[in-house]
Amino acid sequence: PAAGSVSFSNPLRVPPLAESTVEDGVRVFELTAAAGSTGIVPEGQTPTLGYNGSYLGPTLVAERGEIVRVDVDNQLPDTTTVHWHGMHLPAAMDGGPHNPIAPGETWSPEWMVDQPAATLWYHPHLHGITREQVDAGLAGMFLVRDDVEASLPLPHEYGVDDIPVIVQDRSFDAEGAFTGELGQFDGVLGDTILVNGTASPYLDVTTERVRLRLLNGSSARMYEFAFDDGRPFDLIATDGGLLEAPVESESIPLSPGERAEIVVTMSPGERAVLRSLAPDADLNAGSSSFDVMELRAASALDPSLELPERLADIPEPDASTADGERTFELSGHNINDRQMDMGRVDEVVTVDTSEVWRVRNDNPLPHSFHVHDTQFRVLSIDGQAPPARLAGYKDTIALEWNREYRLLVRFEDYADPTTPYMYHCHLLWHEDQGMMGQFLVVEPGQ
Ligand code: C2O
Ligand code: CU
Repeated sequence: PAAGSVSFSNPLRVPPLAESTVEDGVRVFELTAAAGSTGIVPEGQTPTLGYNGSYLGPTLVAERGEIVRVDVDNQLPDTTTVHWHGMHLPAAMDGGPHNPIAPGETWSPEWMVDQPAATLWYHPHLHGITREQVDAGLAGMFLVRDDVEASLPLPHEYGVDDIPVIVQDRSFDAEGAFTGELGQFDGVLGDTILVNGTASPYLDVTTERVRLRLLNGSSARMYEFAFDDGRPFDLIATDGGLLEAPVESESIPLSPGERAEIVVTMSPGERAVLRSLAPDADLNAGSSSFDVMELRAASALDPSLELPERLADIPEPDASTADGERTFELSGHNINDRQMDMGRVDEVVTVDTSEVWRVRNDNPLPHSFHVHDTQFRVLSIDGQAPPARLAGYKDTIALEWNREYRLLVRFEDYADPTTPYMYHCHLLWHEDQGMMGQFLVVEPGQ
């Protein structure tokens, strides 16, 4: 099923910035998960879930070095969790399946944000119903800022030239309610593309350069983002932060959970359509190209600064620093022939070490690999150096069939002998089916 052509009739919604207060040196956010209804398609109001609103959630922003606390109030009729995808933090704050929030309860994780500026996100992670809750609308962005990023001449003004772009594919029934049909690739593919919960979206552009923070927030669909006129853009950041230098690109593939920040240059008065090209056959979770969003430039544009030649210092990943090696084979709905068992720890790693994780998709079906707590580096793919777009910090990677991905994974701190972190396929349907495992980070000898 491919999404049809759209007319770009709706202004793009931009999730509001989350309010916060500072109490005793801690930046405190409040998120309330609740049911509501949202006007998305003409057929009728869509019953949805959201944080502090009826669909999706506000964008949280924190500075590197800040201590943050998020008071998550569950006003849903069901248990949920909130996972901070891409965040380096203690397992007890991670919001995986071991941190349930019962209806009516509040969970208040607190941690120090200590990682480079990046586009992270948050979403539920209760085992077996992650897809259901995310698809209903529970997801939002979490932006980390730092001095390195702030000092660069990049588009920085949220909602003006720095735009969150949460892309999801959904289907609707005749009354406007979401339907979830099983697609041909064992996932749920929708026929309508939403950006930030907006169908047929357009974005009014008022600056020469626009930074789009692309998040594939879909359950199963793979995208290959490009512009209809083939114009190149600059890829400046991936999951875990800025690349070493902008990478001029004509398209960027993103599997569910992955992010990319791109900067596109517009001329006064012109229009450009962000599309998704036919995905690579090996990652085929959708069969043709389709429109995502139109950019409409004003007749006069505010000038933007040239992009810098260098963005950040990214050390070469060095496999000789690894203390060990493990192998992960994804096949069927299993990882290493096992299904997720919350009572079983699959891997135990030692704090303050790095390891080489060899990951392979043994299946001609699309899968990906996401690791909690850490931003890894891609050492090689089938023995070759990764392309520039995979040379930065990553927490989720699409796995083409029958290739060996060697990842350098670092477990910096936060030993906890009782609460595990997760690794899993981020096609939510697969994750819910048990394509997930658990690892503990422990002190040496524990
Ligand atoms: Cu975005 Cu374990 O997930
Ligand atoms: Cu999968």
